[in-house]
Formats: sequence, structure tokens, C-alpha cells
Amino acid sequence: MSGPLQSVLHPAGPDAVIIGQFAWVMFVAGAVILVAVMALLALGLRGEARPVRPMRWIAGLGVAFPVLVLTALLGWSTWQSAKLTAQSSQQSLAIAVTAKMWWWEVRYTDKASGREIVTANEIHIPTGRPVYLGLTTSDVIHSFWVPALGGKKDMVPGHVTGLTLHADKPGIYRGQCAEYCGEQHARMALHVVAETPAQFEAWLARQLPPAAAPTGAVLARGRQAFLDQRCSACHTIRGVSGSDGVNALGPDLTHVGSRMHIAAGTLRNHRASLADWIADPQRIKPGARMPAAADIDAETLRALATYLEHLK
Ligand code: CUA
Repeated sequence: MSGPLQSVLHPAGPDAVIIGQFAWVMFVAGAVILVAVMALLALGLRGEARPVRPMRWIAGLGVAFPVLVLTALLGWSTWQSAKLTAQSSQQSLAIAVTAKMWWWEVRYTDKASGREIVTANEIHIPTGRPVYLGLTTSDVIHSFWVPALGGKKDMVPGHVTGLTLHADKPGIYRGQCAEYCGEQHARMALHVVAETPAQFEAWLARQLPPAAAPTGAVLARGRQAFLDQRCSACHTIRGVSGSDGVNALGPDLTHVGSRMHIAAGTLRNHRASLADWIADPQRIKPGARMPAAADIDAETLRALATYLEHLK
């Protein structure tokens, strides 16, 4: 499979490096013990069947070996865990991620200006420093996991848990819901876009303003279709409609055209896939909360998709 990396064995930040080493040490230690036990078992099975006198040293080793090995691994893993970036919400940048069946709402608060932006399924972070995420869910238990950048954390209703992502170098890192959460658990992916601090600030600045006003007849028609089709019952486009409430049912679409994917990593984002998705989401992602657009003609559908694509 090509595309963004999603592997513990290809870490792209200091926390992920520690977790990657941890995976290797546990694998090698487990493999050595398995081979040793199998070899002893084979040795034992070769001998003739005769009564064996219990020997004290066998019992002694049976206790000493696991105690020594497990204590060593426990000590090592505790030491390594302590090196993982200390979590802190006392940072200038706060990102809140809310899991929903089956997508991710991402909320940025610019503490300097107090302004907030809401996006979905794509988390932009600056490289070179730890970024704190507050994680929760508005329905069932999900789990947040971007293997190349950090650990995995469950998202539990009514609780906010914390996780730190730390990327060393720019890149796109794929993540996936890691706790079974229903029919479309498998299509609940996200992408972390790690950018240089300057690129990140530029991205944030582009996300802050409300949606651009439509220029031309097609975009105006698309915007009108967004209202006529009652898309705004679940989706917000800042400057057009929507309450931007915490319990938003569908992703905020203010700058949907700037995202790489739609439907939580399911489709590449372009006019044709937007039109396919709007026409019949249930064909692409059965069970998704979004209903098909009712009796929309082809031209209006195309205008709506064009308008959404245009919301960069
Ligand atoms: Cu959300 Cu699995």
C-alpha cells in the first residue's frame, strides 16, 4: 500500500521512537523466551518415559527466571515511559479532537486572539515541538492512534484524555480509530499534516476567516443548494449558515476544499467524489449518519460539489 505511513516501525518523532524501540525489545525478548521454552520442551520429549524425581533446582529456576526477566522488562519499560513527553495542556496551542461515529471533529483555539476554528479528519500540527491534544467522544468509545507520531489513547464519553503528538519532520501521517465502534470503524481514518511552524501558521491563518463569498453563477447556485437541501441542518459553513454548536452532527465545511480527503479518509477530496458522496453516502459508507440528497438534479449536484470544492 502506498500513501502516508501508518506504522510503529517507522517513527517520525521522539515519542514514537521510544514506542518503536519498546515494540522491538518486547518482540525480541518474547522470541528468545519462546525459542528457549520450545527447545527445552523438545529436549524433554526426546527422553524415555520414566518417573522423574522432582528436582529442587528445576522449581527454583522456574521461579527465578520469570521473576528476573519480568522485573528487568518492567524496570526498563517504566524508565522508557518516563521519557515520553510530559503531557501538558499549558501550551499556546490547544487542539481538541472529538470522535464521532465515524469521523473526527478537530477544534483549534488560538489563545492569543481567542478565535476558534473547527475542521474534520485532518490535524495540522507544527513540527519540532510537542502538541497537546485533548481527546473525547460524543457517542461511543473510540481510540485515537497515529502510530508514526505517538501512543494510542482511548476516547471515552464524558472524559477528556490527553495525548501529545510530536513530529520531527514535515510529512503526512495516517491514523486510524483503534477501538471497534460500529459498522464503519474501519473507515474512521484521519491524517496528521506536520508542517514547519511557518507553514502551520499560514494554514491557520487561511482557516480563520469565514467562507469566501461565491463568485459567479455556478458557485452561487451551489451555495443556494447547500441551503435548499438542508445540508445546514447538520453542517456549518461559517458565513453561510450553521450554529457551530458543540453537538454538530456533521463536519464543519467552512474550508472543506482545503482538505485532502472526505468521509474520514475514505475518498480523495475532489468535485467528482464530493458529488458521489452527496448523491448517495450509504453506497460508499453504509450506516453513516448522512442521508442521500433527496431529488437533486444532476446540474444542481454538480454546482453544489463545485461550491464545496471551492471552499479552500
Ligand atoms: Cu471509532 Cu472505531
